[in-house]
Amino acid sequence: MKRSRIADILQSQPIGSESKICGWVRTFRNNQFVAVSDGSTIKTLQFVIDRDQIDDAILKRITTGAAIQAKGKIVESQGRGQSVELVVEEIKILGDSDPEKYPLQPKRHSLEFLRDIAHLRFRTNTFGGIFRIRHACAFAIHEFFNNRGFTYIHSPIVTGSDAEGAGEMFQVTTLDLKDTPTDDSGAVDFKKDFFGKATNLTVSGQLEAELGALALSDVYTFGPTFRAENSNTSRHLAEFWMIEPEIAFADIHDDMDLAEDMLKYVIRYVMEHCQDDLEFLEQRLLNEEKQKPQNERSPMPLREKLQFCLDEAYERLTYTGAIEILMRSKPNKKKKFQFVIEEWGSDLQSEHERYLVEKYFKKPVILIDYPKDIKAFYMRMNEDDKTVAAMDILFPGIGEIIGGSQREERLDVLLSRMKDFDIPEHEMEWFLDTRRFGTCPHAGFGLGFERFIMFVTGMSNIRDVIPFPRFPGSAEF
Ligand code: 4AD
Ligand code: MG
Repeated sequence: MKRSRIADILQSQPIGSESKICGWVRTFRNNQFVAVSDGSTIKTLQFVIDRDQIDDAILKRITTGAAIQAKGKIVESQGRGQSVELVVEEIKILGDSDPEKYPLQPKRHSLEFLRDIAHLRFRTNTFGGIFRIRHACAFAIHEFFNNRGFTYIHSPIVTGSDAEGAGEMFQVTTLDLKDTPTDDSGAVDFKKDFFGKATNLTVSGQLEAELGALALSDVYTFGPTFRAENSNTSRHLAEFWMIEPEIAFADIHDDMDLAEDMLKYVIRYVMEHCQDDLEFLEQRLLNEEKQKPQNERSPMPLREKLQFCLDEAYERLTYTGAIEILMRSKPNKKKKFQFVIEEWGSDLQSEHERYLVEKYFKKPVILIDYPKDIKAFYMRMNEDDKTVAAMDILFPGIGEIIGGSQREERLDVLLSRMKDFDIPEHEMEWFLDTRRFGTCPHAGFGLGFERFIMFVTGMSNIRDVIPFPRFPGSAEF
């Protein structure tokens, strides 16, 4: 007999059918009722045992965390809390779990504790829910782009280019660090390294995606990216996943439309497909926030917040408009911001972004036309010669979730921007070729996948939305 998944049993409710179910014991009550989870849903299936039929030695081994397999009949449940249950005819212990030693007891554990045992936290309701939702989001993203005729491009993980300037990079080398070869000037001789040059882990797949877009029109990447910035915050990881679409024959407005459509598509998908997990996480958040003062609690329950971000058109305004609002704002005048905004041109910090989204507009915000000096070299210069056609999308509770721009497609302007940023032309010939041969207006953006998952799950620490987080001082598992 083939094993049935608990999600399918609860969905189809095949009353009277013989079934084989496998899973891990959550709780065992009265030597009779076993709550079993197989991770296919947040819900457990109740196994009902007739203790006179089952060996005492087996009963003793039905402990929290043990893996079991049972055959029996699906019946309508007598008890409350579940629709159907399995009346066990035959049960087998697949893997014991010593209840004295098993770290996950059937009680509430802190997120910090669970982070230390990330190898086991998949087994909790919270993390089971988070990772099922993470999967649903990844699937929905591919579905969204596929529906629109985009081609998925796999950009390289190891790269010899360091021009993006998006952050500090992790070096990749096979040189013997105890005995590095040097050249005549005494510097490390990377010609002797594996690739014959210095290489790094990628910080972004954008530049390669641009090459794809200038042939295939609409492409996207979805892969891991790495940044060695020493930011020990609840919104930064050293290894995170990014979705980077790139569209040809498009400007910054097409780019914003695409981003807003994509975010709404994925939120709608999760609302439709992950109700049980969302309901659980919403309740978890409400419980957690009970301990917080009123003004620090989320203004809406999780699902209401998601619905709100579906219904509202995102506010679109320029950086200049945002600076005016921020300079006039109470926290700026009263110097309540950690970084007080003194003038046009200053970079926006997370506290400013969140003020605009949560206090001022009370909805997601798209900021465009940033000062050229605080943005990347490849962003298209606006006619004012002061700003570039950049766009950032800011979300409640998170701040920046997407960064993107229209790209500088004019060779002469791009070359002069590269000079401003001290980017050597010879390293970028391959990129510049797209501007030499058949250049065209194009645009793109990057969505930080984990930041988005934080938003959808209501989790407040980015380390809790990726299975095995990497951050300064930590690369466990
Ligand atoms: O704004 P960023 O640096 O933009 C780029 O990398 C562009 N190449 C994207 C593009 O236009 N194709 O990063 C994009 C997004 C940010 O908005 C943020 O959501 C996320 O990536 N991000 C991080 N997420 C987690 N940990 C970090 N250290 C992150 N740095 C950026
Ligand atoms: Mg950014």
